[in-house]
Amino acid sequence: MRVLSGVQPSGDLHIGNYFGAIRQFLSLQEEHECYYFLADLHALTTVQDADKFRGLVRDLATGFLALGLDPSRSVVYRQSDLPEIPELTWYLSTVTSMGLLHRCHSFKDKVAQGVVPNHGLFAYPVLMAADILIVKSDLVPVGRDQKQHLEVTRDIAGAFHAVYGEDVFVLPEPLILDDVAVVPGIDGQKMSKSYGNSIDLFGPEKTIRKKIMSMVTDSTPVEDPKPTEDNALYHLLRLFAPDEGERRWVKTVFAEGGVGYGDMKKRLFDYFLATFGDARARYEELSEDPAEVERILAAGAEKARETAAPLMDEVRRAVGIC
Ligand code: ADP
Ligand code: TRP
Repeated sequence: MRVLSGVQPSGDLHIGNYFGAIRQFLSLQEEHECYYFLADLHALTTVQDADKFRGLVRDLATGFLALGLDPSRSVVYRQSDLPEIPELTWYLSTVTSMGLLHRCHSFKDKVAQGVVPNHGLFAYPVLMAADILIVKSDLVPVGRDQKQHLEVTRDIAGAFHAVYGEDVFVLPEPLILDDVAVVPGIDGQKMSKSYGNSIDLFGPEKTIRKKIMSMVTDSTPVEDPKPTEDNALYHLLRLFAPDEGERRWVKTVFAEGGVGYGDMKKRLFDYFLATFGDARARYEELSEDPAEVERILAAGAEKARETAAPLMDEVRRAVGIC
């Protein structure tokens, strides 16, 4: 199986990104041929400040590697290092109906949030289709919010096949883990960098502690059992609890009461450090060696281009460019 996924360098990595995406990337690289990339061209639809952008790309690359994406097992690269991707995007655009893109929730959501949309944001799913199709990936691990983009990718590939009468692409399947499909933020909404409710993976310890301690909870008295439904703190404790004993603890304190939300939050902070302590230390180390990070990305791009080249030959031939 060939696996592919990407993350946009549009903000700092948070625990939603980890549980919703990167944790799966790590287990998949144990068994499959994996392609993991920094979706920097995508991020330009929203981040339009060159210095900030460079920093975000560098931080995401460092985060990928610190969390354990392993360049000796996976192809780790930056989208903009493959000029074939925008080229394929154009061919795909010419077989993509406007209606298909108008139906995309993520575009409609952004507009509803007040984002003034540019053409790049509208055409975003076509670029994403090119990312996926260019290496003939079979499986694409993503959070549930990206499911529709996978359907669009399949539709676009199908449209290309119908127009040109040739099956050059592999139709990919999404891989979505249901119990972590939506990681809640500190306000109980879906965690997202754009909602300001996220807990960052590599931020200063103090800030993370503060964020966790400021999680929104209800006013159930300490001694009472606590509601678990729609309770973000419960959800995060369950996600993080490192072993069976801790999972039992979480269940018991909610079911039986006797522990206040403040103490639960302190426990969540301990879980956070236990889970990400090593990665945070590696992040610090790698941040001191940006040349090494660049070297890894350059080697990844070279490998990805080797895979992309024969597919692009087929596509160009199919459309009549050569
Ligand atoms: P954000 O919503 O913070 O902008 P991205 O859209 O860059 O995050 O998401 C990167 C990856 O992380 C995607 O695969 C996305 O589905 C996943 N992801 C982001 N937020 C969450 C969340 N709260 N729960 C589960 N997965 C998430
Ligand atoms: N759209 C994805 C997100 O916002 C990022 C992305 C871009 C992606 N291209 C991709 C994910 C290809 C999987 C496959 O999270």
